[in-house]
Amino acid sequence: MARRTEELAARDKKYFWHPFTQMKKWLEEAPLIVETGQGAKLTDTEGKQYIDGVASLWCNIHGHRKHEIDEAVRDQLGRIAHSTALGLSGPPAIDLAERLVQLAPKPLAKVFYSDSGSEAMEIALKIAFQYWQQKEGGSARRRKFVALELAYHGDTIGAVSLGGISLFHATYRPLLFETLRAPAPYCYRCSLGLEPGTCSLACLEKMDQLLQQNAGEVAAVVVEPLVQGAGGMIVHPAGYLEGVRARCEKYGVLLVCDEVAVGFGRPGRMFACEHEGVSPDIMAVGKGLTGGYLPLAATLTTDEVYSAFLGEHEKFRTFFHGHTYTGNALCCAAALASLDIFEREQTLARIQPRIEQLSRRLEQFRNLEHVGDVRQRGLIAGIELVEDRRTKKEYPPAENVGMRVTRAARDRGLITRPLSDVMIVMPPLCISNSELDSLLDILLDSIRQVTEREG
Ligand SMILES: Cc1ncc(COP(=O)(O)O)c(C=O)c1O
Repeated sequence: MARRTEELAARDKKYFWHPFTQMKKWLEEAPLIVETGQGAKLTDTEGKQYIDGVASLWCNIHGHRKHEIDEAVRDQLGRIAHSTALGLSGPPAIDLAERLVQLAPKPLAKVFYSDSGSEAMEIALKIAFQYWQQKEGGSARRRKFVALELAYHGDTIGAVSLGGISLFHATYRPLLFETLRAPAPYCYRCSLGLEPGTCSLACLEKMDQLLQQNAGEVAAVVVEPLVQGAGGMIVHPAGYLEGVRARCEKYGVLLVCDEVAVGFGRPGRMFACEHEGVSPDIMAVGKGLTGGYLPLAATLTTDEVYSAFLGEHEKFRTFFHGHTYTGNALCCAAALASLDIFEREQTLARIQPRIEQLSRRLEQFRNLEHVGDVRQRGLIAGIELVEDRRTKKEYPPAENVGMRVTRAARDRGLITRPLSDVMIVMPPLCISNSELDSLLDILLDSIRQVTEREG
């Protein structure tokens, strides 16, 4: 290892506390330190190249060092980096709000900016809650939220309250507000003990019952549309989202769609909701909004929701929420450039062959001895590793199988990050045919090495 890498590693270990990382283990290992990126590849301080198999945590879209985004940020730097959105406005934020409304499912009409997906969801929650408090003839009794088992909406306290992953969320229970929990449509491990194809989406009936039992008291149903990301890339069965929307209509409840992970093309269309012709009342986006460049998120609402916040100053109907960097000009410039690329390069049309390629190649994984389930939606895939395919028995956590596969993949030139023992494929949308093949070759070999030979 070169002197510089050693020196950086030492200072990293001395000062840097990494997210979602057991630091005891981190301190025992040599960290990979990324120096540069180009397209779907990352290069470390030793000059070794890797495929960015999880799009730098699900956010990179058009690749690293995309000329047009680099230029747009530089160009904006020549004007101003940041001025507040509290009481002032700026051209990039105005332009982007208009573009987002034009792209989003109708009748979403207003854009509230923030800096991360968690904040976008926190804002969604607060808007939904306050809407019912202030709506003319509304019901202030509507204070509860319905969320799914294994849901993930971020790491701030409101978002964690909606969360249903005990590993991440259970510790904080005493701090959280109570959320009504509907079953996740996790067909491989159906919590109702049913089989897909013959279940008639019984999980939707459970949600219906929950809404009925709490009639008049629920503010909103919150879902990750089509794919529950951090829960293990749980791909929802066709018709589920449409069914949720229908239940929301039936009980007069708002639908909040968290498109933070799935928005901006990954499932195949711009927004996941579009696949089922669903229009939420509130929609959160983040991650890919800037093409994976800068921290920007947004919460979109309908005019119906927005209008409940209008009134004279002394009525205090204002949405009392905002962050220092709300609507930051550099972030908005990057986002506008990313949306331009979607149009100019016809990104959504261009990824369709990659989606088919992924689908074909995933067949090879299905036959592996320790692969229990393979799930795909667009350019998103989850490969669930199990100790015993027949009984679906999970590996003991101490075996850390997902992490071991990740390390084996890294040695071969692929960066990935598992969700427990679910291996994730979520590359930048710009990934080429041969890069996607290499990614899957490496992942296949690494899974075999750890689960068949090592194990
Ligand atoms: C569905 C979903 N919502 C919200 C978030 C939180 O976003 P952030 O990490 O930007 O706060 C994530 C992050 O992975 C996510 O997957």
